[in-house]
Amino acid sequence: ENPQLIGRELVEWFRVNQRDLPWRRDYSPYGVWVSEIMLQQTQVAAVIPYYLRWMERFPDVASVAASNEEEVLLYWEGLGYYTRARNLYKAARLMVERFQGEVPTTRQQLLALPGVGPYTASAILSLAFNRDVPVVDGNVERVVARLLDLGCPIKSAEGRREVLRAATDWLVEGKARLYNQALMELGALVCTPSDPQCPSCPVVSHCRAFRLGTVEDRPVRPPR
Ligand code: ADE
Repeated sequence: ENPQLIGRELVEWFRVNQRDLPWRRDYSPYGVWVSEIMLQQTQVAAVIPYYLRWMERFPDVASVAASNEEEVLLYWEGLGYYTRARNLYKAARLMVERFQGEVPTTRQQLLALPGVGPYTASAILSLAFNRDVPVVDGNVERVVARLLDLGCPIKSAEGRREVLRAATDWLVEGKARLYNQALMELGALVCTPSDPQCPSCPVVSHCRAFRLGTVEDRPVRPPR
């Protein structure tokens, strides 16, 4: 069976069922970067008004770099985890110095930015530049753990390896932007931690946990 079939079904579902979110309007690298940093430790509903206000005051990298930490923190006030805002400001200055105010396009350059780790680098590469890289966040981990009926702890070395392998196998070439968001969106809207809506799932026919009746037992939490 073609592994990209799952990816294609996810992409078609996303095209129709995605939420209309402000950072899904044009996928500018700057907008993707800002939204991914905001979404790291904050729920979508809380981020929306902050993102809109931020983009109005700081429409591009240069406007952040030309401001100062105090003002940047003012626009962040209430979102929490203020290191994110300080890093955003530092990274904006760095992008002006090194990349003419553009968000850089290689993993290595992205990882050198304060506040950008492997997850955010992958999100920017795939969502902004549509590069064929998988993005694994908590939602994706849960979706994959259920589709594969993973019995090992999701945070174990084996669990992480299996999730990354599946997310890579299913990736539809040339459609990473849609595919990665489809996995995240499915986890947010359908394949939820509690009370998942399996009858509405576009890939339930591929779901091993659904077949076995173990959906509520996946993902396996780490022993601690
Ligand atoms: N969480 C992380 N990235 C996201 C995105 N692009 N849309 C919605 N939720 C997200």
